[in-house]
Amino acid sequence: MKKESQLIMAIESSCDEASVAFVRFFDTHFEVLSHVVYSQIEIHQKTHGVVPEVAARKHVETFPWVLDEAITKAGVGIADVDCIAVTYGPGLIGSLMMGVQVAKSLALAYHKPLVAINHLRAHLQTAFFDLEQKKYRDVKFPMMGLLVSGGHTELVHFTTPVEMKIIGQTLDDAIGESFDKVATLLNLPYPGGPHVSKMAQQGDVHGFDLPIAMKHSHDYNVSYSGLKTAVRDLVKKNDVHERVADVCASFEYVALEQILQKTVKAVQDFGSKTLCMAGGVSANRVLRSELVSRFSNSCEVIIPPFEVCTDNALMIALSAYIELQNGAQAVDYSAVMSKPNLSIEIR
Ligand code: KG4
Ligand code: ZN
Repeated sequence: MKKESQLIMAIESSCDEASVAFVRFFDTHFEVLSHVVYSQIEIHQKTHGVVPEVAARKHVETFPWVLDEAITKAGVGIADVDCIAVTYGPGLIGSLMMGVQVAKSLALAYHKPLVAINHLRAHLQTAFFDLEQKKYRDVKFPMMGLLVSGGHTELVHFTTPVEMKIIGQTLDDAIGESFDKVATLLNLPYPGGPHVSKMAQQGDVHGFDLPIAMKHSHDYNVSYSGLKTAVRDLVKKNDVHERVADVCASFEYVALEQILQKTVKAVQDFGSKTLCMAGGVSANRVLRSELVSRFSNSCEVIIPPFEVCTDNALMIALSAYIELQNGAQAVDYSAVMSKPNLSIEIR
């Protein structure tokens, strides 16, 4: 007899967030029983970036109570779940190992199957869910995925919810990384994205003339290290003390313009019927509004709510559901290993 619902417990710990979610999936909708996220941001602000060893040690300390809180809020036990989903890559090896070891131990103790989830696929697969209505979305293919985070900048062509190909990516720094590095140059707190973006609101986007890289490259790749160097030179040569907002606005304009122009080209060339965005930088308000204004006439634009832009276990549960619906198999606890350099193209 077919089961009426499927209860998935999900675990995420690939970088500096520890998160656990319990999600019940029905035929037409889903219910989030609990979703707990513990962010280590305050700790990493002192070093202006994540120190991997520090992140891993903090996970060891916080994971038991994140798990405990998620179980208590969900009002179910681990014995009740149908499977356990866990991020197995990519990410920081010490951080990944924490979540994977917790998932494997619980799978072993409770005789539950495991679903190994690729963190990058999970970010973009949130597009298949209406997170406000808690319903599934009927997405039209081909779909273009724009992944913009602290570690990745990729344009991904989807032909189904699980078949995808990277068609363009950064040749050096990720877009979020460039926001973070510019923030450090301007003595703004870590992570830089939200602070640079907030300052930019008061600045002039043409206050400083910065270069848009890869403009004539005839491909879908981007590059952000030259922009960071240009901002460094600007800060060195000029007294920008009074004009930090102009530096932020000029930088943000060029950083976003570069990826937006490549996205326009990609959507046109691949005939994308849907465009979705995900990853930490998708919290950027200018990028969100530009995406809607530039693309809503040519395709459907899907942008996740702010709370799922950054790392979280809810997206891991959603990805597990999509992958299982599309042929992935849950496995025995012994079959899952952490993979720090996993590509989005691999399940
Ligand atoms: O996806 P994410 O939470 O973590 C990974 O990198 O996997 O992304 C974090 C990145 C950081 O670089 C942060 O500065 C950036 O997202 N970010 C932003 C904004 N909010 C977060 N960048 C630009 N504007 C924002 N509002
Ligand atoms: Zn992420």
